[in-house]
Amino acid sequence: MAIIGAGPAGLLLGQLLLRQGIDAVILERHTAAHVLGRIRAGVLEPGTVELITRAGCDRRLRAEGLLHGGVNLCFGGERHRIDLVGLTGGKQVTVYGQTEVTRDLMDARAAAGAVTHYEAEEVSLHDFDGPRPFLRFVRDGAERTLHCEFIAGCDGFHGISRPSVPESAMETFERVYPFGWLGLLADVPPVNEELIYVNHEDGFALCSMRSPTRSRYYLQCPAEERVENWSDERFWDELRRRLDPEAASRLTTGPALEKSIAPLRSFVTEPLRFGRLFLAGDAAHIVPPTGAKGLNLAASDVHYLSEALIEHFCDGSSAGLEAYSSRALARIWKAERFSWWMTSMMHRFPEVGRFGRRIQRAELEYLVSSRAAATALAENYVGLPY
Ligand code: APR
Ligand code: PHB
Repeated sequence: MAIIGAGPAGLLLGQLLLRQGIDAVILERHTAAHVLGRIRAGVLEPGTVELITRAGCDRRLRAEGLLHGGVNLCFGGERHRIDLVGLTGGKQVTVYGQTEVTRDLMDARAAAGAVTHYEAEEVSLHDFDGPRPFLRFVRDGAERTLHCEFIAGCDGFHGISRPSVPESAMETFERVYPFGWLGLLADVPPVNEELIYVNHEDGFALCSMRSPTRSRYYLQCPAEERVENWSDERFWDELRRRLDPEAASRLTTGPALEKSIAPLRSFVTEPLRFGRLFLAGDAAHIVPPTGAKGLNLAASDVHYLSEALIEHFCDGSSAGLEAYSSRALARIWKAERFSWWMTSMMHRFPEVGRFGRRIQRAELEYLVSSRAAATALAENYVGLPY
């Protein structure tokens, strides 16, 4: 097996295969330190935790992850709690940063002595439409070739796998949102024990965390906004303004460890299989971060793909591989719908006008007053079954 990309998708796939004795080499463009330097979301569905457990990488996650049984929606200056546990028959999400998941998977891989070629340059994919695919890449200035049975394209949205497929063989679906998220990470205690998603006249805000002493906050901002325009002070003032009065009065501020702007996009490519190449994770789809589905969706792809590969290598059956694309896409589209819906409900869209804002408000009021509506949010938030 050749895996392109040492993000969570590639590493998790590698680890699940390794545990079944299937040899998987990973090629990664950057250094391990660079991969770990990226700050990403941090809410894990129980299914993702289960998969990390199966990969044997759950020790630190169990010790340090924060179990959350609820999530909060704030609008009209009031906060409303969605009782995830009560509405889903006992399910909780785990707050544990993607960076930490990646670190744990990298450590396990290193301990097992599995081969990862970091700083692999000019990776190119060959003959994946035939029986003997191979990869070429440059490492330490020397050109190398890697022969394999299958290629997993786990190289993210800007990777090389998806563009290696002829355009005529795939269909893509995309929506770009007219705003971004300005994120700030700080070593201050979180304003609330659970996450707060805020719909405010001036835009969305999110209060999240990495630990009891580290907070992660976001503000909706114009797509073309520059991070240099946001001093820490301006960020904290704006966040405080968007919160309900009680939360605002409890907000602890401090110097930012990191501040960055991310665009919001929905994107899906179909199918996910091209001969002996399989796409998984951000290489195949992107969701806007509202709802925290990015990493969880990468994990569910890896669930279907690892099962299919294990079935192929251990039982000699290709049924799982045949079904991979349609199985994974069925769940992907449901998470795409949920992320799009959460985004639509929580953000300020200038073009919808006064009517659109009243509709948004009615939707939120319905959501927090109807058990049926709240259940629909809760079951998607904790993750649909695989
Ligand atoms: N050659 C080798 N490696 C590459 C190449 C290439 N041409 N292009 C990209 N990569 C590597 C990147 O450096 C990165 O480490 O592939 C990896 C892809 O990792 P991610 O972008 O983290 O994607 P994925 O593993 O699918 O994880 C999805 O990441 O963006 C978040 O919200 C998303 O949480 C989700 C998760
Ligand atoms: C985060 O903690 O970074 C986070 C949490 C929830 C989201 C998005 C991001 O929906």
